[in-house]
Amino acid sequence: MSEKKSIPQHVAIIMDGNGRWAKQLGKERYEGHIAGVESVRAVVRAAAKSGVRWLTLYAFSTENWGRPVEEVNAIMELFCQTVVGEAPELKKQGVSVRVMGERKRFSESVLRMIEYIESATAGGERLTLVLAFNYSSRRELLLATRHIACRVAAGELSAEDIDESVIGDSLMTRGIPDPDLIIRTSGECRLSNFLLWQASYAEFYFPEVLWPDFREEAFEEALRVYAGRDRRFGLVADSSNE
Ligand code: IPE
Ligand code: IPE
Ligand code: MG
Repeated sequence: MSEKKSIPQHVAIIMDGNGRWAKQLGKERYEGHIAGVESVRAVVRAAAKSGVRWLTLYAFSTENWGRPVEEVNAIMELFCQTVVGEAPELKKQGVSVRVMGERKRFSESVLRMIEYIESATAGGERLTLVLAFNYSSRRELLLATRHIACRVAAGELSAEDIDESVIGDSLMTRGIPDPDLIIRTSGECRLSNFLLWQASYAEFYFPEVLWPDFREEAFEEALRVYAGRDRRFGLVADSSNE
């Protein structure tokens, strides 16, 4: 039996290449991040239009705190500005936003913006936009493990009760289906600590294009590539399709 559904339910994107895009044009790195916001807009529109139900965008990894402080501040600032500016349009398009990542390290103003965008767009049913912001998959797995261990210690759960759904429900992606398609722009072919558990049976697509140049047409091309893949989930191909 093979699984061939032409539109992925969940697309996750590692938006990479902003710095290289800026460098090629003799600009500062933060200008690449600014240019990347237009690609976010285009991809959200294209995803909603094509019937994708979940779109996860990797916007800032836990490791990205190690970048120069000016760049980190510029990204935080851009996040806040974009959230305020885009809320009405997202609402109009029926997009609800969920921010996924550890919140401990954010400033008050970033925390306020996260709460604002989540509540302003709550109830949008066409597409859920998941923003991975201060996200790292190993940290997510570590926190989930601690959470489950505490439940076992409290006698709520026995070790034998731990199954895939208990783990899945303890992750930051709880309630979100696994990604069907993971795209990473800029030609890099790695996950960089993104959705390690959830990516088990995802299809991967690594276009060369840098994120600020990834627009509607590039997203549609990714969907065409996905539609041509044969997902077998460890089973054998369905002979009726051959
Ligand atoms: C992706 O672009 C954006 C973030 C990681 C925040 P980069 O900033 O990593 O761009 P490159 O990889 O240096 O070109
Ligand atoms: C991954 O990109 C994180 C985001 C896109 C937010 P990086 O540019 O930080 O990853 P590496 O350093 O190339 O692995
Ligand atoms: Mg990068």
